[in-house]
Parts: sequence; structure tokens; C-alpha cells
Amino acid sequence: MAPLLEVKDLRVTFDTMNGLVKAVDGVSFTIDKGEIVGLVGESGCGKSVSQMAITQLVATPPGKIVSGEVIFEGRDLLKYHPESNMMRDVRGGQIGMIFQEPMTSFNPVFTIGEQIMESLRLHLKLSRSAARKRAIEVLEEVGIPDASVRINNYPHQFSGGMRQRAMIAMALSCSPKLVIADEPTTALDVTTQAQVLDIMMKMVEHYHNALIIVTHNLGIIARHAQRINVMYAGRIVESGPSEEVFLNPGHPYTIALMKSVPRLDEKRGRQLIPISGIPPNLINMPPICSFKPRCPMVDACQSLSDPELRPVGKNHSVRCHLNISGQNSGTIFE
Ligand SMILES: Nc1ncnc2c1ncn2[C@@H]1O[C@H](COP(=O)(O)OP(=O)(O)OP(=O)(O)O)[C@@H](O)[C@H]1O
Ligand SMILES: [Mg+2]
Repeated sequence: MAPLLEVKDLRVTFDTMNGLVKAVDGVSFTIDKGEIVGLVGESGCGKSVSQMAITQLVATPPGKIVSGEVIFEGRDLLKYHPESNMMRDVRGGQIGMIFQEPMTSFNPVFTIGEQIMESLRLHLKLSRSAARKRAIEVLEEVGIPDASVRINNYPHQFSGGMRQRAMIAMALSCSPKLVIADEPTTALDVTTQAQVLDIMMKMVEHYHNALIIVTHNLGIIARHAQRINVMYAGRIVESGPSEEVFLNPGHPYTIALMKSVPRLDEKRGRQLIPISGIPPNLINMPPICSFKPRCPMVDACQSLSDPELRPVGKNHSVRCHLNISGQNSGTIFE
């Protein structure tokens, strides 16, 4: 069966005063119907830009989708103009998007209800009364109390956690086949983060939406995602079934990343180890392994070339010359 979405060799650049930033440098991945995929990587590695490019939301200029294919349900979305009816229909209709800061995603001059209803009327062609009914229903589903009253509130009358839940309600209201959630809870306090993530994961699982979730919360990925993609310097450096990647990571960067962030499912007292060195600047990258300058295993690596993404197990690939996966590499987290 063909995947729901297939991204092939996607490249996105930004033309800046300092030079051409290769923000996304040949990213390929797939997601199946109903599948949950986690996307992780340090700040600036291209997670958001790669996801925005799927629905052509990259600001042009300075950004430019240089090449690649984004095949969604058999059509290459990059062949359509960003403002075409097709892309407007895909955005919010077939692909729901949840961003980090809902204050910028909701328009402050319209009520929450008006905005959810507009999306329902546009994409599902619902009547005003049917759209209102459905809007109240989804707000109730994400746990907004008195939804039939709160629907008349403006975004600033909602707390941060409520706005984010309303954003999830809006993204899921049209039953999109794919949801892209980019660090959906980062702006919230830790307790609210856990609640909102939990609601989102339950909704996605309930509606069988496919989900790409960008998050630093590896516990969420371990618990809910079937697959994890690890990005470094504009590329995917490891991709595999999440259980397999947690047990047998094959890239030194994945190991470093997992040591550097807390996990919800871990034993207490583990020391967090920051990744040494700084992320590379994505201008004029030399044609060597981009992680080489920071790689703790550099002494074991003889090769000078830039490694290709290569299979190391079933559906598991790694962009590294070394063979560390399968050597119980996951035990280093204990
Ligand atoms: N409008 C822009 N102009 C210039 N460079 C940009 C622009 N937007 C993004 N970039 C660059 O593209 C690269 C990727 O950015 P992106 O926002 O995708 O990172 P990210 O992985 O989502 O990081 P974070 O975890 O901080 O959200 C970065 O180097 C960033 O500086
Ligand atoms: Mg981002």
C-alpha cells in the first residue's frame, strides 16, 4: 500500500545576508495512514522548516523550496501554487496543523468559535448551524468546559492551555488525514504540557489521524510513536521504529540526544549530559559528515566522506560510517 505522505529529497534554502542557509538538505521520509511519527533534533536543525514546506508555508523570499517531492495521496503538492485552491483545501482540510504558539495562530479579532466554524464551512461546506454544533463538539472533546458559551470568547479570553486545546480542536475538526504538530506544547507550563499532549494523542488515536509530532519529549515518542526520525543539520540522520531506535540507536548523535534530554519513562537520578560543541551553521557546510566535529566516536571513524543514509535493520536506517546499532547501544541510557 502506498504511504499517505512521501517526502522525497526535499531541499529548502534561505537567502540571508551571510549567505545561503541550507535549512533542509535532502530530507526523505514517509508516513502511513494512521501512523504516528516523532521528529526530534536540536534547535535550528530544520524540523519546522521541513514541516512547513509540506504545505508550502515557507516564507518566500527569503525561503525557497529548491527541489523535492511531497506526494500526498498520490499528488505532488509542490507542483501546485502555494495560493492555489488545491493548497488552501489541503491546508487545514486534509492536513491539520498545530503550531507552538496559538496566540499567533488564532486571529485576535475573531472569536474562537468563528475561527473553528470558518474552517469547517470552508473545508467541509457545513451550514452555519452544523458548523457551530461541530465546533462545540470538538471543543468539548478537548476538554473546554462550557464549550457552548466559551465558543463566543476571543483568543485572549482563553488561558494558554485552553488556547492550545482549542488549536488542537480546530486542527482536528475537519478530520484531516494527516496532522502536523510542531512542538505543540512548548509555550505551556510542564503540568499543562502533559495534559494537552495527552489530549492530543488520545484524539489522534481515536480519529486514526496520521501524526507527525515535533517534540523534545522522548517519553511521548516512546509511548505513542511507531517511528522516530532524528534530524541533524538539515538532514535525517536516523530513522526507524521507535522501540528499535530507543533500544539500538545507530547514530552517535541519537545517543547524545537521548542522553541530553529527560525521559518520562526512565529511572530517577540519571545524569543528563549536554551535547558538547555547537550545532553547525548551515551556510557553506563542508562535504564531510556534518556531525564529525562533535562526534564522541570520531576516533573510531576512518572515513573522510559524507555518509549516506543506509539500512542497518528492518525499516531502520542511519547516516553514519560506524556500525554501532545492534551492539546494545541503548544500554548507555541506563
Ligand atoms: N526566515 C528565515 N530566514 C533565515 N533563516 C531561517 C528562516 N527560518 C528558518 N531559518 C533557518 O533555517 C534553519 C532551520 O530552522 P527551523 O526553524 O526549521 O529549526 P528547528 O529545528 O525547527 O528549531 P527549533 O527547535 O528551535 O524550533 C535554521 O538555521 C534557521 O536559522
Ligand atoms: Mg521549530
